[in-house]
Amino acid sequence: MRFPNSFLDEIRDRVQISSVIGPRVAWDRKKTNVSRGDWWACCPFHGEKSPSFHCEDKKGRYHCFGCGASGDHFRFLTEHDGLSFPEAVERLAEMAGVPMPARDPDAEKRDVERASLQDVMELATSFYQDQLQSAVGARGRAYLRDRGLSSATQQSFRLGYAPDSKNALKEFLALKGISKAQMEACGLVVHGDDVPVSFDRFRDRVMFPIPDSRGRIIAFGGRALSSDVPAKYLNSPETELFHKGNVLFNFARARKALQKDGTVIAVEGYMDVIALAQAGFENVVAPLGTALTENQLELLWRMAGEPVLCFDGDQAGLKAAWRAADMALPLIQPGRTVRFALLPEGKDPDDLVRAEGADAFRAVLSEARPLADLLWMRETSGGVFDTPERRAELEKTLRELAGRIRDESLRYHYSQEMRERVHAFFGAQRSRSYDKSGFDKTRGRGGAEQGREWARGGRTTGRLAVSESLSRSALVKRAGAVMPLREAALVVALINHPLLAEENFEEVERLEFSHAELRSLQSALIDAHAHGLANDRVTTVEALTNAGLGDSWERAVSLVRKARLWPALEDAALEDAREAFLQALHLQRSAGALHKELKAAEAALATDPTEENYRHLVEIQAQFRDVQAPEALVDGFGVSSGRVAR
Ligand code: UTP
Ligand code: MN
Repeated sequence: MRFPNSFLDEIRDRVQISSVIGPRVAWDRKKTNVSRGDWWACCPFHGEKSPSFHCEDKKGRYHCFGCGASGDHFRFLTEHDGLSFPEAVERLAEMAGVPMPARDPDAEKRDVERASLQDVMELATSFYQDQLQSAVGARGRAYLRDRGLSSATQQSFRLGYAPDSKNALKEFLALKGISKAQMEACGLVVHGDDVPVSFDRFRDRVMFPIPDSRGRIIAFGGRALSSDVPAKYLNSPETELFHKGNVLFNFARARKALQKDGTVIAVEGYMDVIALAQAGFENVVAPLGTALTENQLELLWRMAGEPVLCFDGDQAGLKAAWRAADMALPLIQPGRTVRFALLPEGKDPDDLVRAEGADAFRAVLSEARPLADLLWMRETSGGVFDTPERRAELEKTLRELAGRIRDESLRYHYSQEMRERVHAFFGAQRSRSYDKSGFDKTRGRGGAEQGREWARGGRTTGRLAVSESLSRSALVKRAGAVMPLREAALVVALINHPLLAEENFEEVERLEFSHAELRSLQSALIDAHAHGLANDRVTTVEALTNAGLGDSWERAVSLVRKARLWPALEDAALEDAREAFLQALHLQRSAGALHKELKAAEAALATDPTEENYRHLVEIQAQFRDVQAPEALVDGFGVSSGRVAR
């Protein structure tokens, strides 16, 4: 409903804004001047350690110099407490002691209708919750248990189960006196001219209620239990209550958690939000199966000045990150931007915390990159800038990107930053040709390690700055954290077949693994042999487990198993294991030697950038790539199992 301005003004005049905000912040004693009605606090809208949130009773307004949040009494209650405008008015009118004006009957009717739809959604939520606990819900319970969600987590997110029936919910709601029209308006049934009898939309699915910014259920997402169902997730359609582009899953809870955690994190799926909450990350939200919208970004900015957008570690995730960067770019302002976190290859946050725990996700967050890095990376990775035309084109693209920023001062700083990067990239001396394609082909595969080294080697010349900045990017760093298959196969074979370790003990000591967990397993293995604790497989594994490496061991085994390198596994005959081990060892040594050559070639090119040195480097790179390729290893193993078959 519309309130007369004079009425709102009267409230503003009677209530000091500091008394509205006061209960929700801790005033800073040093900066605040009570007698002047000049108040300072740490901003309740974004995480900060020193107070930049200011409110002035005389003006009746607040403003944060950190995140830019500002407004009056009403704005504070709608933004901070999540009240609707009429609710804020009602609350403040009460504080002011002024009576509410008569309400507009039309608006009142709409409000009543909305409220009644909310009641229906609430009924449906309880229905699904009850079903999950009943006999028909057994499949749903088993599914959630398999996915590692505790019953406390299930309850706090009010998860439920929609039975495999076309009318279970319909009948339940009908008994409660809910009309057909209301069920349809809530999107709970499928109906339409071509549907003779409407029926339950969600059937045989685990149900995720979707709350609005105040925690009231406005929609559902349903997860299929089996993989042969056409839609893995089915969401409520758009309704009077639910406009999916304006909603972030878990917004209300995340906002509450903010005081504690500072920033807010957006992930891709609501299953991820729930898994993260269980792992202790309460400040996480997700859009609902669509790319992040402007409205959703605004919601994020209401919570924090620099939300972290977290994307899955696959091609789709990277594309989504780029799309989000393009969407955010025009909207950024000082104190209002985004960071990007990219997950390890092939993982989403749920997979990651389940497999590796909360610290692994924390590590991903700590490597979040600023927007400027992400844009730079996108425009330069894989590019060949070997002609003036191409360099000019890169510069033009970057200029255009910066030009899309609406905020004037930020636009200026972005243009400057991009100019500086281009300058550092091409350096004072001009290169004849520089092609990073070798780098990019290896990215995200077993050979990513090579890309990293190659990038590092280039530190001396400005021309290689792109690969260096890439090497620092989360994208490449995390690829380095992936367990290399060949190294894992070596370790697994050695542990499963202690005799192999004995036969090759010197080699075992000399092996240089790039992956930290494998290095730990290696030294524990050497230790076990030295102490006579590696006479057979079982005692060896036990020794590793006692050394706290049980998880690393399992990770290595599961990697080897996934790659079907059977000869390294425990059931293989010693003979086959030996052959496979020696094959892997050979590849590992060649890679080591080539790696040294690669370094030398890089150094040569850096000091003497001739065409010849460049070609030499590319050649070594190609050879290195060949021994790094998983095929090289798998082929070797294939030969040995072929021999077994004979
Ligand atoms: P994902 O496919 O990444 O699912 O979809 P997920 O979160 O990893 O789920 P699990 O682990 O397989 O159960 C991310 C989001 O995209 C939407 C959902 O909102 C989901 O949370 N989505 C996905 C759909 O709406 N429909 C689909 O068929 C798939
Ligand atoms: Mn998932």
